[in-house]
Amino acid sequence: MAESMSGMKRTHRCAELSKAQVGQTVTVMGWVQKSRNKGGVVFVDLRDRSGILQIIFEENKCGTEIFEKAGKLRSEFVIAVTGQVCERAGAVNKNLATGEIEVIAEQLRILSESETPPFHIEENSKTKEELRLKYRYLDLRRPDIQKNIMMRSRACAVIRNFLTEEGFLEIETPMLTKSTPEGARDYLVPSRVHPGSFYALPQSPQLFKQLLMVSGYDRYFQLARCFRDEDLRADRQPEFTQVDMELSFVDVDDVIDVNERLLARLFKEIIGVDVPLPIQRMTWQEAMDRFGSDKPDTRFGMELNDVTDVVRDCEFAVFKNAIADGGSVRGINAKGQGTMPRKKIDALVAFVKDYGAKGLAYIAIQPDGSIKSSFAKFMKDEEMQALIAAMQGEPGDLLLFAADKNKIVYASLGALRLELADKMGLLDKNQYNFLWVTEFPLLEWSDEENRFQAMHHPFTMPMEEDLQYIDTDPGRVRAKAYDIVLNGTEIGGGSVRIHQDDIQEKMFEALGFTKERAHEQFGFLLDAFKYGVPPHAGLAYGLDRLIMLMAKVDSIRDVIAFPKVKDASCLLTNAPDTVDEKQLEELGIRVNEAEQTEE
Ligand code: AMO
Ligand code: AMP
Repeated sequence: MAESMSGMKRTHRCAELSKAQVGQTVTVMGWVQKSRNKGGVVFVDLRDRSGILQIIFEENKCGTEIFEKAGKLRSEFVIAVTGQVCERAGAVNKNLATGEIEVIAEQLRILSESETPPFHIEENSKTKEELRLKYRYLDLRRPDIQKNIMMRSRACAVIRNFLTEEGFLEIETPMLTKSTPEGARDYLVPSRVHPGSFYALPQSPQLFKQLLMVSGYDRYFQLARCFRDEDLRADRQPEFTQVDMELSFVDVDDVIDVNERLLARLFKEIIGVDVPLPIQRMTWQEAMDRFGSDKPDTRFGMELNDVTDVVRDCEFAVFKNAIADGGSVRGINAKGQGTMPRKKIDALVAFVKDYGAKGLAYIAIQPDGSIKSSFAKFMKDEEMQALIAAMQGEPGDLLLFAADKNKIVYASLGALRLELADKMGLLDKNQYNFLWVTEFPLLEWSDEENRFQAMHHPFTMPMEEDLQYIDTDPGRVRAKAYDIVLNGTEIGGGSVRIHQDDIQEKMFEALGFTKERAHEQFGFLLDAFKYGVPPHAGLAYGLDRLIMLMAKVDSIRDVIAFPKVKDASCLLTNAPDTVDEKQLEELGIRVNEAEQTEE
């Protein structure tokens, strides 16, 4: 039976109390973590978002009525307690912030009762994620999730303060809008007023922030919700938040400068980590060559080695053919893994096949210097020795090689390197390695579409010195685009934008856009540029990813209050869901029966 709170006012959160308040009468409110009756004393652990506080009910202090009420308390009841802060009579609990004190209760109200929850509210819950997400409001009571959500709030405050100090204006842009060119599928919203027409939810505020530059706001930011209908992973959600910014009259170094200071401030204030500035920069080409990835994890080595020239003349068909086809042979050296059992090596071979590799050749150097290899029989002894030397192979090392088109070699060895590092325990969540990856290719060939596509988006500025190749050799043109990478995760990206008509026209040409199509899709932006557009550039962070890394968790679902699962559904609300026939009629929409999912 729920009682009213009237007449009682909360004075402190549970864990705000310490020895400093001993002797004071306080009122706390929260949820019963656990309660137990021990020898005529009721002990209650009371929880709120600050932490846990021990409350003691003794009949001779609180009276019979309250004492009996206390005896009825069960987990997750919401209660209000007034009492006196005392030093703990029993053993001090070093695990609790409030472990040296307790509150001797004088007053108790049961504000609401609780059914037995479907899982126990505790840190590091072993409960299946599906159940946790179905009852997310209970899951969100768990201290570890609360810590993440509170960290996120503090981080947003630091970001807002910093950017405001730096002269940025926070400006909102529409959610019901036109398609933005970020490369994912759009979420569409049907219009009732214009049957057959649709809004697209923004994949990013890209076009609007560029318009704001045309309008003279010169430094803009927004914590912007973005929507992308793409396959979900641990670091991808269909709706996510960007810290989005755009600046006028700037070039690459200006954007990098303000963002390095932002990151340094954020990491220092929120998790006490010093980010040494300037942050290392690496060109895209170097990142691919050394790490097989455009978002290298630089917390460990195991870099790729190009051994194409070393094996060019050997008789091993796998190597020979790859080189003849214009590809390369590259390897990584997994130090100390030479005695890996055959079964595990086979699992690595299977692993790289997901990245398009046809196989993985290996040399396992045994501690006694002898070798086990999948291709030694095709090689002369001196060729093997040269290869091992080129890989700096030593007794105990496992050398792994991929031979294929560069793209496949990079993708498979890049992924393999991370997989091995994870298995070898080389990934330290307490280490924060930032890296700028710069000079991305402007365009990327799409076999599927049989044309070039923008690697970032169609408004990204080519590097001046490469402009000359845009007609003849578009694949060679590098862009003024940059990504910020943290421990192998792309936490943000941006570019300098094109503000000159002639360059934009060339870009659309290279992308195979007709003038008409460009106008249809982006006409409002191109028109705006006719009325005085400043040079501008910007960047957007994936806020969820940033917080995930700061909180040292493996999934962005752990830093989003109400996340979606892999199939983009919400287990709490059951969205997406069918709607009334009447709503569909108003929107002029008929659902194809065959397409309806069975509920
Ligand atoms: P981009 O597409 O690189 O750039 O996005 C910026 C950052 O947003 C994060 N991100 C995501 N996070 C969670 N779930 C997703 N599905 C998801 N997709 C992207 C990433 C990424 O680095 N308008 C440009 C920015 C600019 O040029 O200023 C843009 O959106 O961390
Ligand atoms: P095979 O002659 O096909 O049995 O291959 C000999 C070895 O080369 C095996 O260990 C294969 O896994 C490996 N291999 C096959 N294709 C490739 C490739 N494209 N790159 C590297 N190794 C490969």
